[in-house]
Amino acid sequence: MSSTAITDSPAPWLRDNCPCDACRDPRNGQKLFQITDLPAGLAVASVREVSGEATTGWEVVWEPDGHRSLYPADWLDAHAPGGPRGTGGDGRTEADKELWAAADLSGRLPEASWDAYIGDRSVRIHALESVRRLGFALLRGVPCRDRMVLDVAETFGFVRRTNYGELFEVRVEPDPNNLAFTGALITPHTDNPYRDPVPTVQLLHCLRNEAKGGDSGLVDGFHAAALLRREDPRAFDVLTRVPVEFSFADARTELRAQRPLIDVDPLGRIREIRFNNRSIGTLHESAPVLEEFYAAYRRFGELLLRPELRLDFRLTPGDCLIFDNTRLLHARTAFAESGGRHLQGAYADLDGLGSALAVLRREGAAA
Ligand code: OGA
Ligand code: ZN
Ligand code: ZN
Repeated sequence: MSSTAITDSPAPWLRDNCPCDACRDPRNGQKLFQITDLPAGLAVASVREVSGEATTGWEVVWEPDGHRSLYPADWLDAHAPGGPRGTGGDGRTEADKELWAAADLSGRLPEASWDAYIGDRSVRIHALESVRRLGFALLRGVPCRDRMVLDVAETFGFVRRTNYGELFEVRVEPDPNNLAFTGALITPHTDNPYRDPVPTVQLLHCLRNEAKGGDSGLVDGFHAAALLRREDPRAFDVLTRVPVEFSFADARTELRAQRPLIDVDPLGRIREIRFNNRSIGTLHESAPVLEEFYAAYRRFGELLLRPELRLDFRLTPGDCLIFDNTRLLHARTAFAESGGRHLQGAYADLDGLGSALAVLRREGAAA
């Protein structure tokens, strides 16, 4: 590497990344200055290559304040402008996913036994990576204990408590506040789009499933949205722009949130899907926007029902599904309310899952 990585870098960016102990607290790596503390007219006064015992790098002396920064060569390799990271995203967009239709997963369901998941770091890494890459993982043989779903969530993150409690019981209820708590068919949806922020991870742990019916389905919403963009770019565009109100109310709760059905990142990449016919509210837009929105909404809804997109399976006792609620839609077939079916569900979040995965990898590298 030559000093051009230094001289080609915008001065404020380079200085903002000074790793010295005056700029960052060595105990925690946190930055000690504000952007407004940097002198105006920052410029590199001189650069020289330095090689120490452990690292080689580049020493910069700054004007006008004479501050010295030492940038390790491997840090510059990884981060210099225009480098390999480019416009790498945050891991949440379609750019970092493997989009799938049902056939793509035949014979390679991302599943693991609970014992292996608990006992073997590489199995756990693989399962959590599957949630990130494919949108889900299926743990088998999870003990059929009350509240066990919370223990599963705590293996990778933090339970998100809601008005439904720490966990929710998915079984037939006498006075259901949600259609999930009946024997009705539930079409592909994401959960709780009426929350802001929406729960980004959902868990469903099967304790009993003796009912006739009650089979599960998963659809990759990113794949469906990418198909919509290809087949009807205008409809895709409409669904990324029109804010949609979702709401939920019962005797103790009144929740609402307004987001588009398809959220894209600043580069236009698909990042979040919200789709739930049970909780979509009344849109307030001009008549032409409503016409366009409804045509696009219907088109996306039809796409999500294409049989080839839907992975069908049946949860059996001890199965625990962990999935990305900002990407996958889940569904179930109707079941006879006389048969026993009981799932326990919980919410958690992708940031905690990502952290758990990064720490597991770090420990794996150190081992
Ligand atoms: C839910 C749900 C699916 C099922 O509770 O959010 O969609 O299989 N349940 O009962
Ligand atoms: Zn510094
Ligand atoms: Zn649901």
